[in-house]
Amino acid sequence: MRVEPVPALEGHIAVPGDKSISHRAVLIGAVCEGETHIAGFGRSADTEATIEAVRALGARVDEPDVDSLVVHGVGLRGLREAEAAIDCGNAGTLMRLLPGILAGQRGRFELVGDESLSRRPMERIAEPLRALGAHVETTDGHAPVVVEGAPLHPVRYELPVASAQVKSAVLFAGLYADGGETTVVEPLPTRDHTERMLQRAGADLTRAPGSVSVRSATKLELGELEIPGDFSSAAPLLVAAAIVPGSDLTVHGIGLNSRRTGLLDVLERMGGRIAIYNRRAIGGEPAGDVELRSSELVGATVSAGEVPLLVDELPLFALAAAHARGDSVVRGASELRAKETDRIAGVVEELRKLGVHIRATRDGFRIKGVPARLRGGSMDARGDHRLAMLGAVAGLSSRDGVDVGGADAVETSFPGFFDLLGQLAATAR
Ligand code: S3P
Repeated sequence: MRVEPVPALEGHIAVPGDKSISHRAVLIGAVCEGETHIAGFGRSADTEATIEAVRALGARVDEPDVDSLVVHGVGLRGLREAEAAIDCGNAGTLMRLLPGILAGQRGRFELVGDESLSRRPMERIAEPLRALGAHVETTDGHAPVVVEGAPLHPVRYELPVASAQVKSAVLFAGLYADGGETTVVEPLPTRDHTERMLQRAGADLTRAPGSVSVRSATKLELGELEIPGDFSSAAPLLVAAAIVPGSDLTVHGIGLNSRRTGLLDVLERMGGRIAIYNRRAIGGEPAGDVELRSSELVGATVSAGEVPLLVDELPLFALAAAHARGDSVVRGASELRAKETDRIAGVVEELRKLGVHIRATRDGFRIKGVPARLRGGSMDARGDHRLAMLGAVAGLSSRDGVDVGGADAVETSFPGFFDLLGQLAATAR
C-alpha cells in the first residue's frame, strides 16, 4: 500500500468500536443470563475470533448488523467443550482472557493461535490461574494452551507486570472461586474495562487504589451495551493531524477512559492543540469528541509509570517525537517486546528506513526530533497492525510518501483504516 503525503487533514470522522471492550462484551455476554444486545461493536479479525470462540463453546451470536450483535448467554457455567481447538488467530486478548472463564467450566479446552500469537508469553496467565486451582498447560510457555475446568478457590495475586489481560483473566476466574475474595494487585494502573463491565453485569466487585477484588457469582446480566469508538484506532489519525501542518481533525464518540488516553496527555506536554467536546458516558465508559489541530511540537519523556496508559500508542508517540523540536525518550516499556511483534525493534528499524533518527534501548527508545516532514521510503509492517498504521501516518506526513509492506495487517483491529485514510486524503486541502 502506497501512502502519499497530504497537505492537511481536515474534517469530522468516527472510528469502529473499541476492540478491548468488544472482546469483553462477547466473552461476558456469553456467560450472562439471557440476551446481551451490543451496539457499536468493533468488527475486526481479532473480535471475530472471539465471536467464533464463544459459538464453538455453545453460545449463539446473532449479527443483525455489521456493528450490532446479540449474544445469547448460556449462564456462568454453561459453556461446553468445543469440537476442535479454539482458534484465537492473532488475538492476544482472547487467548489471555478466555482461559479465566474456561477454568470455571466443565471440560477440557484447547486454544491455538497464529504464528505471532504462538510466540507470545502465556505462562503469565497460566501461573495465576493454577494458583486458583485451575488446570492450565502451556507449550513451553506458549500456545497451544490447554485449560481443564476444576473447583477454584480465591487467591490474592500480585501482578509481576502491569497487564490488563492478566488482571482480567484472574478476575474472570475469581467469579468461579467460592469462599472469599479473589484480589488482583497491580504495580501500575492498567485499563479497567473488565472491572467496569463486570460491575455493570452485577458482579460483586470492589476497587481500591492499586487493587481490585471479586467474589464468586451465581449470575451475570448485561442486557444492553453500547461500545464507544476505539481510542487506539483514532490515535493514528489524531497523530496525523498533530504533525501534518494546517490540519484540524475531530474524531467523534471515542472512549476517553483515562487509562487509555495517555497519548493525549503526552501530546499536550509536547505542545499539541487538543480540545475535547461533548464529554459523556457510553456503555459505562467515559467518552467524547476529540479535536486535534497541528502545532509545533517539542520533545517529551514517557516514563515507566505512564507506559500502561499509552502502551499501544507508543509507536505513534515515536512518530510524533520525530517531528518535534528536541529529544524524546521512552523508558520502562520492555512490555513492547511482548506485543504482536517486538515493537521496540519494529518501531526503531522501520522508522529509521523512513529517515527518523531513533535508536533502541533495553526498555524503550530515544528519538532526535526534526521539526519538518520526514523523508519517507519503504517500510514493512511485520504482520503487526499497529506498525501498518504507523507507516501509513508516516506516509501522510512525509515528503516522498511511504510504501507500507504488509498493510493488510490492519485487518486485525481496523479493517476500514485505509478507506478512511483515502477519504480524508481526497478532501485534504
Ligand atoms: C489489552 C491490554 C494490553 C494491550 C492490548 C489489549 C486488553 O495488553 O496492549 O492491546 O484488552 O486488555 P497487556 O494487558 O498485556 O499490556
